[in-house]
Amino acid sequence: MSHKGAHPSTAAIIGGGVIGGGWAARFLLCGWRVVIFDPHPDAQQRVADVLHNARQSLPALADFPLPPEGELSFAASVEDAVSGAAWIQESVPEELGLKHKVIAEIEAHASPDAIIGSSTSGFKPSELQANAATPGRILVAHPFNPVYLLPLAEVVGGDAVDDDTRGRACEILRSIGMLPLVVRKEIDAHIADRFLEAVWREALWLINDDVATTAEIDEAIRMGFGLRWAQMGLFETYRLAGGEEGMAHFIAQFGPCLSWPWTKLMDVPELTEALVDKIASQSDAQSGAHSIRELERIRDRNLVGILRALKARDWGAGAVLREFDRQLEKTEPADMPADVDSSGPLRMLELSVLPAWIDYNGHMTEFRYVQVFSDTCDKLLVMIGMDADYVATTGAWYTAETHTMQVDEIGVNERLYSTLQILMSDTKRLHIFYRLHAAVDDRLLATCEAMYLHVGKESGRVCEAEPDMLEKVKRISEAHAGLAIPDTVGRHVGQRH
Ligand SMILES: NC(=O)c1ccc[n+]([C@@H]2O[C@H](COP(=O)([O-])OP(=O)(O)OC[C@H]3O[C@@H](n4cnc5c(N)ncnc54)[C@H](O)[C@@H]3O)[C@@H](O)[C@H]2O)c1
Repeated sequence: MSHKGAHPSTAAIIGGGVIGGGWAARFLLCGWRVVIFDPHPDAQQRVADVLHNARQSLPALADFPLPPEGELSFAASVEDAVSGAAWIQESVPEELGLKHKVIAEIEAHASPDAIIGSSTSGFKPSELQANAATPGRILVAHPFNPVYLLPLAEVVGGDAVDDDTRGRACEILRSIGMLPLVVRKEIDAHIADRFLEAVWREALWLINDDVATTAEIDEAIRMGFGLRWAQMGLFETYRLAGGEEGMAHFIAQFGPCLSWPWTKLMDVPELTEALVDKIASQSDAQSGAHSIRELERIRDRNLVGILRALKARDWGAGAVLREFDRQLEKTEPADMPADVDSSGPLRMLELSVLPAWIDYNGHMTEFRYVQVFSDTCDKLLVMIGMDADYVATTGAWYTAETHTMQVDEIGVNERLYSTLQILMSDTKRLHIFYRLHAAVDDRLLATCEAMYLHVGKESGRVCEAEPDMLEKVKRISEAHAGLAIPDTVGRHVGQRH
């Protein structure tokens, strides 16, 4: 069997359930090509549902457009799915025998440099690697549901995976906005699920013993320590509980209660039919008013809100979002074209409408029009030589007047481009007409007419721009001299025809 080289941005997802679908959505929205293999007859619909939710939420975490969405396809076999993939994520049900079978098939067909990640919640990498042909590239990459929003991926390689492979894996996870947490020593259920298991056992006892209902347990979490944990975790939170005297004081003060007979951690209540029914009926009473799909959307919106609050403070999971933004941020190249095209306006920005730009009507909100046209103008100013030096020593172009016209509705995630046409320029004035178009069909969405005045740094008054700058402006003006003057130019507000 000959192996094709791994395509650097193709991911294969083996098992497209809750977790595989979430991985697929994250990779796709970060611009990767994704190929899924899942024999379930409803797999395509399930993945489509997850992807639908992800499209509503993941872009809302970023302040820069995500790359164009990658292409999604479904393969008829593991072989077809993995050939050419750089990252293969196994997300089949949690059964060791099944995972071994699937991993062996992946290994047989994957390109030699591909990384094989497993979503397993419980198995150690050494268990997955047992009898594998290439154990050195099989590692646990354990995510959290919803994979497309929560940044954490626990990365566990065990002894078989070398630093270079682990490093490459972490690099890829970071490139899709995740935080790879390298688990230094393999252990059943890694780090996070150990806690969840402990909390889960206590919760089962509290219900079994009629101390609390499912709803009361959830209140105890989400109204209190859940909020603390989301932003500081366990130890930083307790550090504060110790006050000025710090952590050592905290432990000395609260340590002894660990030996009180509070915990039943070592014991598990038997999951009798009666206990299962009790939990299920309490849970129906608590949450049955919403469908699972509704709850997923509520969860996603809440997570976006919480994560964005953390992002504003550059803290915890929010700091990971900031780092992801730095990857997404592109500085627009703003070189003066050698020949300015005289057949049409100058094409300027390529952009996409971020979820944060949308108002209560579901359309791009008013001030974002101003921002888009202002960013377009900034690009022109950089092109003609108004850099930081020029502003510090000579002057700047000030906006004197603008008139924006909304022509057609602009929706979320729409790809747009802007153009500009110089209507008139002299040594002190620039009269510009901007247009905003839909990238998909060039439809005109908005226009803006603006007048700028050149103001001197020292004088604070209108004055002539530097000759170099004027020469560049002139080249664009001359190229635009033959273009038709748009018929809305010079109109006052309300005059549409
Ligand atoms: N659900 C969670 O919250 C969660 C969180 C983190 C990790 N995990 C882990 O992720 C893995 C998948 O869990 P899930 O919750 O997505 O399960 P799931 O049941 O929702 O999805 C499993 C999918 O695998 C498919 N499948 C079964 N056999 C297959 C095969 N031979 N080849 C390809 N696909 C096959 C099934 O059709 C199904 O769509 C498990 O290892 C689990 O421990 C789950």
